[in-house]
Amino acid sequence: METQSRKADHLRICLDEDVQFRQTTSGLERYHFTHCCLPELDRADIDLATTFLGKSLAAPILISSMTGGTDQAKTINCRLAAIAQHYQLAMGVGSQRVAVENPEVATTFAVRSLAPTIPLFANLGAVQLNYRYGLDECLKVVDLLEADALILHLNPLQECVQTTGDTNFRGLLDKIAVLCNRLPVPVIAKEVGNGISASMAEKLIAAGVAAIDVAGAGGTSWAKVEGERAKDARQRRLGQTFADWGIPTAECITAVRATAPTIPLIASGGLRNGLDVTKAIALGADLAGMALPFLQAANESEEALHELVEILIAEITTAMFCTGSRRLADLRSPDLLQKI
Ligand code: FNR
Repeated sequence: METQSRKADHLRICLDEDVQFRQTTSGLERYHFTHCCLPELDRADIDLATTFLGKSLAAPILISSMTGGTDQAKTINCRLAAIAQHYQLAMGVGSQRVAVENPEVATTFAVRSLAPTIPLFANLGAVQLNYRYGLDECLKVVDLLEADALILHLNPLQECVQTTGDTNFRGLLDKIAVLCNRLPVPVIAKEVGNGISASMAEKLIAAGVAAIDVAGAGGTSWAKVEGERAKDARQRRLGQTFADWGIPTAECITAVRATAPTIPLIASGGLRNGLDVTKAIALGADLAGMALPFLQAANESEEALHELVEILIAEITTAMFCTGSRRLADLRSPDLLQKI
């Protein structure tokens, strides 16, 4: 019940309050594409298709892990799954711990029938591996979703600001390694908005994770969200103090890509339009994830979600046209993106 009411609070706070970083930005605004005045392309020929972990996508967009466990969350997950299927995008659901604890809410996550062909990602907090979760629970959440991969989120700051957070992160890397070895689907390591450094990415890759989602700083601040939820003054203050903590998303992408040239890489954290998406791909990401923009649209209506995806695709296509890039791979040409 506690986990369920926390999930309801997260949706309410993210929809009603200002939960974004105050000063820290994604860093993507510091990059500019070199404009190409003569693309020698027909805009209609631009191709956004890609693959991720062996599955096809029509555009390099991930609807980031968010919710489940309540009626409102079910509506949101169903809308997100329908839109992901319509446009062939990837999608994650929120932490499924609530469904392990209360099997009766499992249906609030079970969206596979609405999205039969997309890459769909299950989700659990890695720290739960220190709180009696093991292979069985991980298999359970993957099966429940018929997921293509399991996202393990790493959220030490969020757990610190939560009044009853799970803060024993000792020995987790070894447990992640055992899990990667035994789970029949790939494991993706993801932060929740504070970023993954190059050295941590290296350790996670050595442990066997199949992909990294940097989920860097600059968008939704979980210190702010949990600070807003906290009843006691000390936790509220902690949330304020650490509201801007983390590694900006652009820094994470360039650093992780430099150390791990071939790891499937997701950029997320503060991406707010298709130009951000295109910059993230040009910096080395394979997919670009967004959470808050999809939550706001899904909460509004199915039409708002269609509108959001259409505009994202138009923005990515325009950035590609005006850089003379026909395919996503062309965005990696040297000197296409300048740092100012
Ligand atoms: C999240 N996020 C998240 N991440 C995760 O791995 N498991 C989860 O259960 C949740 N829950 C969740 C709920 C809501 C309402 C939001 C908005 C976000 C984090 C999310 O996937 C993402 O990493 C961050 O929000 C940063 O991306 P944006 O919001 O800046 O695009």
